Amino acid sequence: SSLKACDVVIFGGGGDLAMRKLLPALYHLDMDGLLAPTTRIIGASRRELSAEEYQAKVRTALDEFVPSSVGDDETWPRFKERLNYVSVDAQEVSDFARFNDSGVGDNERDVVFYLATSPDLFGSICSSLASHGLNQERMRVVLEKPLGRDLVSSRAINTEVMQNFNEPQVFRIDHYLGKETVQNLLAIRFGNTLFEPLWDSAHIDNIQITVSETVGVEGRWGYYDKAGALRDMVQNHLIQLLCLVAMEPPSRMDADSVRDEKIKVLKALRPISGANAYNKTVRGQYAKGVVSGKTVQGYFDEEDSNPESRTETFVALRADIDNWRWAGVPFYLRTGKRLGQRYSEIVIQYKAVPHSIFSDESNRQLQRNQLVIRLQPEEKISLTVMNKVPGASEGMNLQPVDLNLSLTEAFHNKRSPEAYERLLLDVMRNDATLFMRYDEVEAAWKWVDGIMDAWKQTSERPKEYASGSWGPAASMALPIKDGRNWHDY
Ligand code: BG6
Repeated sequence: SSLKACDVVIFGGGGDLAMRKLLPALYHLDMDGLLAPTTRIIGASRRELSAEEYQAKVRTALDEFVPSSVGDDETWPRFKERLNYVSVDAQEVSDFARFNDSGVGDNERDVVFYLATSPDLFGSICSSLASHGLNQERMRVVLEKPLGRDLVSSRAINTEVMQNFNEPQVFRIDHYLGKETVQNLLAIRFGNTLFEPLWDSAHIDNIQITVSETVGVEGRWGYYDKAGALRDMVQNHLIQLLCLVAMEPPSRMDADSVRDEKIKVLKALRPISGANAYNKTVRGQYAKGVVSGKTVQGYFDEEDSNPESRTETFVALRADIDNWRWAGVPFYLRTGKRLGQRYSEIVIQYKAVPHSIFSDESNRQLQRNQLVIRLQPEEKISLTVMNKVPGASEGMNLQPVDLNLSLTEAFHNKRSPEAYERLLLDVMRNDATLFMRYDEVEAAWKWVDGIMDAWKQTSERPKEYASGSWGPAASMALPIKDGRNWHDY
């Protein structure tokens, strides 16, 4: 059952991800009664801290990131009791004995080791765990991104990890898969008969995936500049969304059935390389501008920046999937920092009606059906349908009307959990359906490496775009070249 007691050990337990996302998620799970009474949470990092000091640190983080928890005397006392701390230097093998001393994994308990550290440490952490008997079957590791910066480095990380853990024990997280609406996409596709028969190139004209952010690099220049939008967002989050939209129906909702279908999509992605990269991709870099009414600086004015950098903070591209279902259907993907609005959505644009019975005037009003799946900021699904505008005047006045499904309204008494809540619970339950198998990571890197290589061969810089805009003009032109348009927010 979901309430099996376990130990959750967080490497990087005092770090940003732990404080911002992981501990708030665990706190919410506790609040919802989803942690077994004796489940423990153990922060691990180099600093010397007592359990009390760690508890105080976590309390401060909850004050900031879960404001509703301030003054909570129901969940917090219980949650606090679960919090322990072990001081370990991830590169010091002998330090790992402290886990044994703290009873981690005793009494046949499951153990989750969450590696919220730099990927450089994944290999050594895994081997030190193994040398202390902490890689038994009931023990699992969760790996945070980035899983490398290209195919070669990601293979190196994977090889090191797999020397001490087996594939079913390795949970590679992509937090987009934990988002409610992303899971709802599976419910929509496979819980209805309405959509699936029309889910192919005979009915769909194009598919668009946008993840638009208003934040900049937020003091992470060091990391971000080595990554860029393609590695930071497309290789993982956007490609995962694409896989869920494009995959064949799996026969069951279990880890391997779903991942077997996703890998087929990844293998069918048409490589983008050489000169093709110019027609099919657009890179951008943000300049000064105004976002949400505030003047913000450009990428080069950020702390620790380097004016020679060619790192893209925006990317738009056209992907093609070479199989029967999707032949001829472009998938337009775009993501960027410092854009005008924070939102993420998947848009399915259907084909035009094959023949119009209306007058010329009405024809001009005729628009294609469109299914919009909004992930952020609000969770919403809408289907645009053509309607007659009421009125007795001559002819037919047509107008698109949205069939709106606001999930927030439909489930108004349900709190919508954060992605990490669902994913942490799944690791504790040992369900890897929403995690990536290594072959997926590898296939995604292969595809992305092809694009990176093509970019490296050019002296062209990413195109500048004003902060607060929709990215470089060339990105607007990308679907227009094919006679299509981005869906407006
Ligand atoms: C992370 C990226 O994986 O996802 C960040 O490293 C990005 O650069 C973040 O800001 C976006 O996640 P979300 O859940 O806020 O859309």
